[in-house]
Amino acid sequence: MIGKDLVSFRDLEKKDVEHYFKMASQMEKNLKSGKKLVKNKVVATLFFEASTRTKLSFQTAAERLGCNVIDFGVAGSSLEKGESLADTIKILDGYADVLVMRHPLEGSVRLAGEMSKHPVINGGDGGNQHPTQTLLDLYTILKEKKKIKGVNVHLVGDLKHARTMRSLLYGLGMFGADVTLVAPRGLEMDPGVIKEVHERFGLKVRELSALDVRGADVLYVCRIQKERFLDPYEAQKVVAEFRITEDALVGAKDDLIIMHPLPKIDEIPASMDESPHARYFEQARNGVPVRMAVIYEALKYKK
Ligand code: NCD
Repeated sequence: MIGKDLVSFRDLEKKDVEHYFKMASQMEKNLKSGKKLVKNKVVATLFFEASTRTKLSFQTAAERLGCNVIDFGVAGSSLEKGESLADTIKILDGYADVLVMRHPLEGSVRLAGEMSKHPVINGGDGGNQHPTQTLLDLYTILKEKKKIKGVNVHLVGDLKHARTMRSLLYGLGMFGADVTLVAPRGLEMDPGVIKEVHERFGLKVRELSALDVRGADVLYVCRIQKERFLDPYEAQKVVAEFRITEDALVGAKDDLIIMHPLPKIDEIPASMDESPHARYFEQARNGVPVRMAVIYEALKYKK
């Protein structure tokens, strides 16, 4: 059952995710017709970490639904005078009907949800979870491949620090995809997460330390998450290893699609944007109808 807060992909059951997919495709129709579904509601965005897509697609989704948006800007707020995060949440909870929050501390959004009477949606908490990104990722795979079960997905990059990958592994396990994890040595997925997804969904992953695109239906790439490294020089060393160039795609299936949560830095050169395999900009666009569905559901919550 869809609960008050959406903090982790673990909060969702398969039928909830399928419900969001159905709603998102309905929202795509509403986007075309321009019909507003909501009146007199306020969505607050509180982003304590950099964001382009997540924040703006949530704001766009809220506006397209007919909600008003208030954005809490950290700079210029009373946080600078020393106000606590807890008080900030309580104040925003008094102004808005839904709160969308991103914060560098893992678990912080769960805490915000516990303190808030209104639904809180996680826009990313540290290296932990990014559930709405996973919803739009799975929605994109479903739109492109017409199914998720049995689709051969390679997750490539900094699997140790990327919250998008942790959430997505959970979602892919839930839907029975075939998963290969490709990470530079030292940046592998937390074995605890792999074990959890195996125990919960029976997912057995294949692990590689070098790219091998043969057989892949989806190449899901993420950047090296420099800001989460203790030593920034370590990050620089591995950046060059995992570049998705035309050469790296030799032997790939014709209908391979390349996805990326973005921002992409060096791991995908700009020349790939014209490739028939690239789908990351479509993927980012799918963020709007998917987040419309998430906000719409959250607004149904009765205190
Ligand atoms: C990601 C994030 O912030 O986790 N971006 C996003 O939300 N689309 C990926 C990243 O920063 O690498």
